[in-house]
Amino acid sequence: MVRHLYVHLPFCASRCGYCAFVVEVGALEMRDAYLDGLCHELAAEHPRLGALETVYLGGGTPTLMRTRRIAVLLEAIAPSMAEGAEISIEANPETVDRAAFAGLRAAGVTRVSIGAQSFQPQLLQSLDRRATADQVRSAVACAKEAGFASVSVDLLFGIPGQTWEQLEADMAEVHALGVDHISWYELEIKPDTALARMGAQVPDDDWAADAYEMIVRDLEGYGYRWYETANFSQPGHECRHSLGYWSASDYLGIGVGAVSTVDGVRWRNTTALASYLGEVARSGRPGRTMEPLDAATRRRERWMLGLRLDQPLDTAWAGPPDHPEVIGRLEAGGLLEIDGGRVSLTRRGRFVQNAVLHELMEYA
Ligand SMILES: C[S@@+](CC[C@H](N)C(=O)[O-])C[C@H]1O[C@@H](n2cnc3c(N)ncnc32)[C@H](O)[C@@H]1O
Ligand code: SF4
Repeated sequence: MVRHLYVHLPFCASRCGYCAFVVEVGALEMRDAYLDGLCHELAAEHPRLGALETVYLGGGTPTLMRTRRIAVLLEAIAPSMAEGAEISIEANPETVDRAAFAGLRAAGVTRVSIGAQSFQPQLLQSLDRRATADQVRSAVACAKEAGFASVSVDLLFGIPGQTWEQLEADMAEVHALGVDHISWYELEIKPDTALARMGAQVPDDDWAADAYEMIVRDLEGYGYRWYETANFSQPGHECRHSLGYWSASDYLGIGVGAVSTVDGVRWRNTTALASYLGEVARSGRPGRTMEPLDAATRRRERWMLGLRLDQPLDTAWAGPPDHPEVIGRLEAGGLLEIDGGRVSLTRRGRFVQNAVLHELMEYA
């Protein structure tokens, strides 16, 4: 039975220059039909649902669904929720205000994740973000006032053209916000995005490595726990939904383009809105690409996800790495620690996590 539910809410006002997510631009008139579609899919998947510990409303721009539709959606999910479930929503700063957050809180949302990305006007512009730095600050203030259990912000580093001074200025802003949780990702230039098409270059590897070290050091200095590669939390504010992914738990994803992993099978819903709506109305099941996960894939994923965390990986559960012969060398080199059957990256190892994983595991 599944304990984690993801709901994809794809509507956006425009597409940001770095974004490769499944997004619907300029289709706001489809929101009611989409809500109906989600309810059909949810009903069809009901037999798979155990008492849900977490629900994550992601996008897209979930807050463009407006509170009234989010409330209907959460009412439909409510009978499947465990007591004390974490209910998260991603919020774009320019789409929310005091009333919107109060409404989301009243609808049962417990955790809000605000997409800031940066506070520097030139960088926000170069990313095609719609929100200004002031709108980000105001969204955070309104979210804190609304009384969510946790307020998080998303930031990016390694933005084309980003200077060290701009990174330091973002750090000062983040510190001043005093939020419970921070996700600070290194920007990836994905194919078929505006940044890729214009040939934008991210800062070089040394700059990015220094930036990452600074981010970790400063946020730890401000009392955040570096509990996952790109995630930092004040005690007790870790994202339980994401922890479910990183510990390779089963999860169900509903909505256009949503991914699920249940009982060793992964599937992805159609990314085409019109097909999604037609198919869920007919059968509750959208078109899906199915991928059975073999034992080796599942073992590799447990390692790749598990070593992102600051908690040791239990090898009795995860299985062996592909190259156990390199463990002694990684341990002697101060990158890996082993305690009985429990393996973790050292602090130094966490900064070069990808290189360590490439030594331990074969990639598909
Ligand atoms: C589902 S996305 C977008 C949520 C929301 N619509 C927004 O724009 O804030 C969640 C987060 O992923 C991160 N992200 C998106 N694209 C990325 C990329 N190409 N590289 C690194 N991080 C990315 C951003 O920090 C973003 O806030
Ligand atoms: S608002 Fe978020 S999901 Fe929408 S295009 Fe921008 S980054 Fe992508």
